[in-house]
Amino acid sequence: MRDKSDDILFRVSNLGQGDSSRDIYDDWSDDYDRHLLAEFGYVSPRIAAVELGAAVSTRELDVVDYGCGTGLVGAALAAEGFTRIDGLDISEGMLTQARAKGVYRSLLCADLTGPIALADATYGAACCIGSMGAGHVAAEHVPEMLRPLAPGGIFVAIMNGAYYESGGFEQAFRALQDAGSWQIRKLEQFNYMTELDRPGWLLVAQKT
Ligand SMILES: C[S@@+](CC[C@H](N)C(=O)[O-])C[C@H]1O[C@@H](n2cnc3c(N)ncnc32)[C@H](O)[C@@H]1O
Repeated sequence: MRDKSDDILFRVSNLGQGDSSRDIYDDWSDDYDRHLLAEFGYVSPRIAAVELGAAVSTRELDVVDYGCGTGLVGAALAAEGFTRIDGLDISEGMLTQARAKGVYRSLLCADLTGPIALADATYGAACCIGSMGAGHVAAEHVPEMLRPLAPGGIFVAIMNGAYYESGGFEQAFRALQDAGSWQIRKLEQFNYMTELDRPGWLLVAQKT
């Protein structure tokens, strides 16, 4: 049993830059929640929701969940009291699972490596949890994910530590601060799978 989940985690973690993860996630969607929660001890959704909850003064705001997957982040946000949550993901299989959770206001199949079909400056918060990295969403795509966020809006991201280094995320995050696009409120390391040794990075930034 565990062999299958280990194998798929290895494959999804070792995509090349420019590879597409869509087919892997379509195949994984039925088993994703069980593997991530029961086998890997995946805590990023809860951490992201708690961090967002602490960074804002109201739950009455629109939240966009980039790379929403099966909706674990949406469920954690709903548990924190957020109700206006829109999810985007490239995998229809993952979106089907997210729809079943009944926590999203809308769900859209979208490739986040291109232009995003959301209006400028309309969201109070954005999350991108586990969706940035090789074969996923790259550092160069962060400015486009920031565009639909209103000034003062909060951007929460969690990503794998290896991608963070190899994908130039630290430089990209600092460059956005140097350019006056956002203020970094928190940038710290933690282990995001309690059953594995899986270092990751948490970013909380506020759009200026
Ligand atoms: C590790 S999962 C994380 C899902 C969810 N955020 C979570 O924390 O459980 C990564 C997600 O990113 C999505 N994804 C990967 N590349 C994408 C792209 N280019 N555009 C949109 N979504 C993408 C995948 O389909 C998958 O659902």
